[in-house]
Amino acid sequence: MELSDVILPKLNGCAPKPSQTQSMVVHKVKMGFIFIVTYMCFLAPVHHAHPPNATISDLSFKNMDFAMNLYRKISSYHDKNIFFSPLSISTSFAALLMASDGVTHGEILKGLNLEQLEQHDQPELIPKLFQLLNENITLNGKLKLDQSMALFMRQQFRVEKIFEDQIKKFFDADIKSLDFADTKGSIHFINEYIKHKTENKVTEMISTLDALTQLMLINTIFFQGTWQIPFNPNFTENAPFYIDNYSIVEVPMMFKEDKFYTMDDVPLGARVLKLPYHDGVSMLILLPNKGMDYTAVDDEITAERFLSWIRKLQKIKLEVNVPKFKMEESYSLHNLLPDMGMASIFSSSANLTKLSKDGGLKVSEMLHKAVIEVDETGTTAAAATTIGIIPYSLPRTFTVNRPFFFFIYHEDTNCLLFMGRVINPT
Ligand SMILES: *[C@@H]1O[C@H](CO)[C@@H](O)[C@H](O)[C@H]1NC(C)=O
Ligand SMILES: *[C@@H]1O[C@H](CO)[C@@H](O)[C@H](O)[C@H]1NC(C)=O
Ligand SMILES: *[C@@H]1O[C@H](CO)[C@@H](O)[C@H](O)[C@H]1NC(C)=O
Ligand SMILES: *[C@@H]1O[C@H](CO)[C@@H](O)[C@H](O)[C@H]1NC(C)=O
Ligand SMILES: *[C@@H]1O[C@H](CO)[C@@H](O)[C@H](O)[C@H]1NC(C)=O
Repeated sequence: MELSDVILPKLNGCAPKPSQTQSMVVHKVKMGFIFIVTYMCFLAPVHHAHPPNATISDLSFKNMDFAMNLYRKISSYHDKNIFFSPLSISTSFAALLMASDGVTHGEILKGLNLEQLEQHDQPELIPKLFQLLNENITLNGKLKLDQSMALFMRQQFRVEKIFEDQIKKFFDADIKSLDFADTKGSIHFINEYIKHKTENKVTEMISTLDALTQLMLINTIFFQGTWQIPFNPNFTENAPFYIDNYSIVEVPMMFKEDKFYTMDDVPLGARVLKLPYHDGVSMLILLPNKGMDYTAVDDEITAERFLSWIRKLQKIKLEVNVPKFKMEESYSLHNLLPDMGMASIFSSSANLTKLSKDGGLKVSEMLHKAVIEVDETGTTAAAATTIGIIPYSLPRTFTVNRPFFFFIYHEDTNCLLFMGRVINPT
C-alpha cells in the first residue's frame, strides 16, 4: 500500500483524518471489489443556439478529457503512483451542478468540460445524461458497479425542494437529516449508513466530524471485476521492476500466454495491452518504451488518443507479464480543483442558492480515496476461454516491468471508471 501519496489535505473544519478518509475504493480482481467514495463537506455560513443533442458517448468523452486534465494536475505535484475514479468525481460534480448557480455553476461546467453539453432550455439534460450513462453501464445486471449518493444535512437546514427532487430523480440519492452538533451520534449514523450501502466493505468511513457541518455529500462506487483470461498463480514469480535507471524492486510478476488485444503507438513511444474483465469492462495498460521518460507521456494522453488506441487494437498471441499490485491513494480535490478553474465553490463567493436559499454555503472539502488490488484470479471457469496455441509462431512478449499507466473502462460507452499510474508497485 502506498499511503504516502496523499496530496494533502490541510484538513480543517469538518475534516476527518486523512488516514481514515471518508472515501475508499477497493478493487480486487479476485473476489474483487472497488470502492470509491467521493466525500464532500459543506460548512456554513462563511459568509445559446441549439447544439445537436448530446449522447452518453459525448458525456463519456467529456468525462475522459476531464479525467486526463485532473491526472495532469495531480502529476504536476509529484511523480509517484496515482489512482482515482473519474466517474465518481464527475458524478459528484454533476450533483453540485444542480446545486449551483451563477458564476459557480459556470465554473463547474467549464472545469468538467461540459459547457458544450449545456442547453439553457433543458437544465436537466446533463444530470439526465449521467443517469442514462449509469443505467447503460449496469444494464446487463451482471456487472458489479454500484454507484450510490447520499446527502446528510443538518435538521434546521432548508434544502430547496427542486434540488431534493432532482437529486432523488437522477442519482437516486437519499437525503438524511442529522444533528451534526451530536458529532458522535452523527459519525455513527453515517458510518452505519455507508457500511450498509457498501455491503460491509467500508466500515469506518469517518472518524471525526466538525460540529458546524451543515451538509455532507458522499458518493460511492463499487466495482467487482474478474479477468476473462485469468493468470495461473503457479506461474507467478518474483521479477525485477525498473522504477528508473537507478532503482530496481522485486515484484510478483504474473504470467499468461494467450491471444490478447494490443497495439503500438509509435509516435508516442508506448505499447498498449487490453486485459478484459467479464461484463463489458476492460483494463487498458499503456507501457512507455524502455528508456523513455514516462513523464513525457503526461502531455500526450487525451480522450482522443485513448479512443485511437482502442480503435487500433489487434488480437495477437502474446506472452504477458503483469505485476501484482495494490495501491491506496487519497486526494484533496479542494486543493487541486481551484487550479483547474473551479475556485468559487470552495470559497466564500460560492453560489449554491439552488441547494438552499439560506445562503453562505460553500464546499469546505472534497476528498477522494481510491484503493486497487490486482491479482491473478479471475473466475477459474473463465479459463475455458483459452485459445489454442498456434504451433511454430514465436510468441511476442508484453512485459510490464517499468512504470505504466492503466485505465479501467466500460467498453460500450468508453466510460472511464478508474485511471491510474504505477511508478512503484511495491
Ligand atoms: C433532441 O432533444 C429534444 C428534447 O429532448 C427532442 O425533442 C428531440 O426530438 C431531439 N432530437 C433528436 C434529433 O434526437
Ligand atoms: C447566484 O447566481 C444567480 C444567477 O446568476 C444570481 O441571481 C444570484 O444573485 C447569485 N446569488 C449569490 C448569493 O451569489
Ligand atoms: C498449480 O499447481 C498445483 C500443484 O502442482 C496444481 O494442483 C494446480 O492444479 C495448479 N493450478 C493451476 C491453476 O494450474
Ligand atoms: C536512463 O538510461 C537511458 C539509457 O542509458 C538513457 O537514455 C536515459 O536518459 C536515462 N534516464 C535517466 C532519467 O537518467
Ligand atoms: C449503451 O451505449 C452505447 C453507446 O451509446 C450503445 O451503443 C449501446 O447500445 C447502449 N446499450 C444499451 C443497453 O442501451
